[in-house]
Amino acid sequence: MGTALSADILLRYGGSLPRYTSYPTAAQFDASVGAAQAEDWLRAVPAGMPVSLYLHVPFCDSLCLFCGCTTSVMRDAAGRAAYAALLADELRRVAALLGPGHPVRHVQWGGGTPSALPAESMRMVMETIRGLFAVRADSEIAIELDPRALPDDYPDVLRAQGFNRVSLGVQDFDPVVQMACGRIQSRARTEECVAQIRRAGIRSVNIDLIYGLPYQTVGSVGETAATVAGALRPDRLAVFGYAHVPWKQKRQELLPEHALPGPAERLAQRERIDAVLRAAGYRGVGLDHYARPDDMLARAAEAGTMRRNFQGYTVDPAPVLVGVGASAISAFPQGMTQNDVSTASYIRRMAARPDGLPVARGLCRSAEDRLRGEVIERLMCDLRVDPLALAGRSGQAASVQAAGWFAQAGPALRQAAADGFVTLDGSMIRVTEAGRPFLRHIAALFDAYHRPGTGRHAAAL
Ligand SMILES: C[S@@+](CC[C@H](N)C(=O)[O-])C[C@H]1O[C@@H](n2cnc3c(N)ncnc32)[C@H](O)[C@@H]1O
Ligand code: SF4
Repeated sequence: MGTALSADILLRYGGSLPRYTSYPTAAQFDASVGAAQAEDWLRAVPAGMPVSLYLHVPFCDSLCLFCGCTTSVMRDAAGRAAYAALLADELRRVAALLGPGHPVRHVQWGGGTPSALPAESMRMVMETIRGLFAVRADSEIAIELDPRALPDDYPDVLRAQGFNRVSLGVQDFDPVVQMACGRIQSRARTEECVAQIRRAGIRSVNIDLIYGLPYQTVGSVGETAATVAGALRPDRLAVFGYAHVPWKQKRQELLPEHALPGPAERLAQRERIDAVLRAAGYRGVGLDHYARPDDMLARAAEAGTMRRNFQGYTVDPAPVLVGVGASAISAFPQGMTQNDVSTASYIRRMAARPDGLPVARGLCRSAEDRLRGEVIERLMCDLRVDPLALAGRSGQAASVQAAGWFAQAGPALRQAAADGFVTLDGSMIRVTEAGRPFLRHIAALFDAYHRPGTGRHAAAL
């Protein structure tokens, strides 16, 4: 693809930006929306409407210094089992509000490292889900795993519980980078882990890589990408730019900041990974994913049916996503809610009201939020959107509103066109291949809450 990186471009596309896994983003959540709202929204879900589930497990065996996830070390197996019991309890509370037997086509376990739950606890929570919801044989059941911390019996436990998709963290195989990040993970262990999962009959494997970590170079990230594509052959990859947010994640202060690559180097690293993966037969999907052409996600991206939610890109069309566990976010047509972020306050809130939800904050979405959200989601998924045509479907008032945003975004869009990052055809915006790394910049033009220079998000490049 080849991005011409003038100092001008680095300046224009600098700053900090959200990842737009939702709109409005979680930065807009506050305590004016809480448990009562979430409970009302659950009661309002029509009978028989499919819902999706996200379960958050905030535990790891050790902490990687780069990690931005909500997680901590919990050594005590009894503590992990007690947390699983709370997940089951929260699921029962959710189901009591929703009513019985809602279809569930997507269950996603994330963290942290969900395999930190004892196998017996994992079985118990999955059986609770099957007892409360209508999980079909072809429902997608997915989990994030750490190859360094996967008990030998776990792949079979997962298969027996219907899991059919796993996501494994690799990040980088370079020992220098691994040492700096406090995450030592051999290629042999990772290969064995992928083999165990495939032997157990779990068909779909995703691998996460990161660029922009301390001491990474264009050469080193290219080597990791080539090893992963050649030896592990995952169905999908997520290639994240390292998000350095030490004001939110204290552990990141321990990284050697002087060894972090700058924006031009990060873009070059991203570009090398992109070239290696495409040469190995993967398709670029959205901002930061790759998939084999026959993978569901690649097909959905082509068909314009891919979606974006708090877990990233998905083929899940369900209008309601219920998050359970500490820090988990739920999304409803009316708005979003988030559980207490710290595990200790989540536990306290679960104990405070026997049937209530452990929600700490959230937001109500206005009609304008929903429309802007749709424009941003289509851009992030399809790399193209016609905001006026989209708004036209919601009536006259929406059309007038969208014409206003489009006019406001005009100068920046024309600049992006001059930079080669978009093409404009009437009100149709198409992000070019060279513009893919700048997708969030284009999306931000339709974000009414974004204030350039406020520094609450990670660096944009
Ligand atoms: C929950 S973890 C993955 C599962 C498991 N805990 C592991 O590490 O193997 C989710 C992914 O988020 C990504 N990630 C974590 N912190 C990040 C950061 N600061 N910037 C970019 N990506 C990050 C990593 O690629 C990681 O694999
Ligand atoms: S990257 Fe994975 S294993 Fe490392 S701290 Fe984050 S969640 Fe835990």
